[in-house]
Amino acid sequence: QSNAMWGGRFAAGPDAIMEAINASIGFDKRLAAQDIAGSRAHAAMLAARGIISDTDAKAIREGLLTVLSEIEGGTFAFSTALEDIHMNVEARLKEVIGDPAGRLHTARSRNDQVATDFRLWVRDQIDAAVGGIEALIRALLAQAEAGAGWVMPGFTHLQTAQPVTWGHHMMAYVEMFARDMGRFADARVRMNECPLGAAALAGTSFPIDRHMTAEALGFDRPMANSLDAVSDRDFALEFLGAASICAMHLSRFAEELVIWSSAQFRFVTLSDRFSTGSSIMPQKKNPDAAELIRAKIGRIFGANVALMTVMKGLPLAYSKDMQEDKEQVFDAADNLMLALAAMEGMVRDMTANRPALEAAAASGFSTATDLADWLVRVLGMPFRQAHHVTGTLVALAEQKGCDLPELSLAEMQTVHSDIRVEVFDVLGVHNSVASRISYGGTAPEQVRAQVARWREQLG
Ligand code: ARG
Repeated sequence: QSNAMWGGRFAAGPDAIMEAINASIGFDKRLAAQDIAGSRAHAAMLAARGIISDTDAKAIREGLLTVLSEIEGGTFAFSTALEDIHMNVEARLKEVIGDPAGRLHTARSRNDQVATDFRLWVRDQIDAAVGGIEALIRALLAQAEAGAGWVMPGFTHLQTAQPVTWGHHMMAYVEMFARDMGRFADARVRMNECPLGAAALAGTSFPIDRHMTAEALGFDRPMANSLDAVSDRDFALEFLGAASICAMHLSRFAEELVIWSSAQFRFVTLSDRFSTGSSIMPQKKNPDAAELIRAKIGRIFGANVALMTVMKGLPLAYSKDMQEDKEQVFDAADNLMLALAAMEGMVRDMTANRPALEAAAASGFSTATDLADWLVRVLGMPFRQAHHVTGTLVALAEQKGCDLPELSLAEMQTVHSDIRVEVFDVLGVHNSVASRISYGGTAPEQVRAQVARWREQLG
């Protein structure tokens, strides 16, 4: 036969280059399980509606399970000539059960078929991503709980700002990753409608039951418009959007770990299990996992831009351009899962260097704000004047090459004569963090409350 799939219309088979540009089986084989689930639901519905016989439906449904076990067992011979997973499965079904296989594609097109398969796949990936994020959150909670009271410098502009607690810094990421989880969950709710039965684009004249197939596949309802059902990939874009934001969070944290594990910072020690050495420099222990998380995120952003670009100029309904959706989403999903798992492992294994954190917290005039606040609270100074007095004290300390608590009371009184010895209490970093008791603040008790809230929420 000149053409394996549409020999009726075609006299000649495709050029080898045509086959190469057209075939998607090399990657869409990953949709096999979803494709077979969709076909089994479709066959059951066709029989229930009297469109095919019960005997044929039974043969189709059982034959599809045979095909699935061949694919899962690695014995299935994928054919590029058969273009994609849909044609590969159907052709093999024909070999396994004979003629009834030809009735499966009644009232269906590959257009609604692939849209259904891909939704099912993305839906599973959303669940996997939510699971991966939750595991990472649990690792962060353990760090936060252990270090709720450990002080470290808080930064703005990567310049020392005010002391914060280790637990507070960890919990900041918990909040971010929890919102990522929420974004995936929101996308799942919106995408959980079934395209199957839209057929090529216009619906079908067969008396199908789209509610039945939607329900069988775990969708909330069938999609309401057949043109929309085969045309849009916004569900994949929402997945990539949520993945991109989550990836951005991972990358920021990865950047901090790279900085923190340097000899200049020494805030954390990464475990040997999540570090690498150097082939020439014996002393080296490199944070490669963090660097690769930071780098791999580029692929996820890239996938988002690539699919947006594929979709942006397409007239309704289906165009073959849309076949390019899958590799982008597969690659982004794989790398997101890998990045989440690597980050979870690093966080679980890493050790905070408390003395280094504390020393760094006390340097850089980190309690200057506490001093200004004391001048306001105790001496009744207007904040602007307190800011000025404190600034003068910082300049004095800088000139003497010391930190604020190392100035003597007499030296301080040269700047403002009312300053009293109690001021030294607020210059200590532990007192500083302990005083930040406003809701969501860095005080250990606030951090512990944040941890408890999340533990309760996650169960
Ligand atoms: N492999 C195709 C894809 O992924 C399946 C749909 C083909 N439909 C068509 N009308 N050529 O988009």
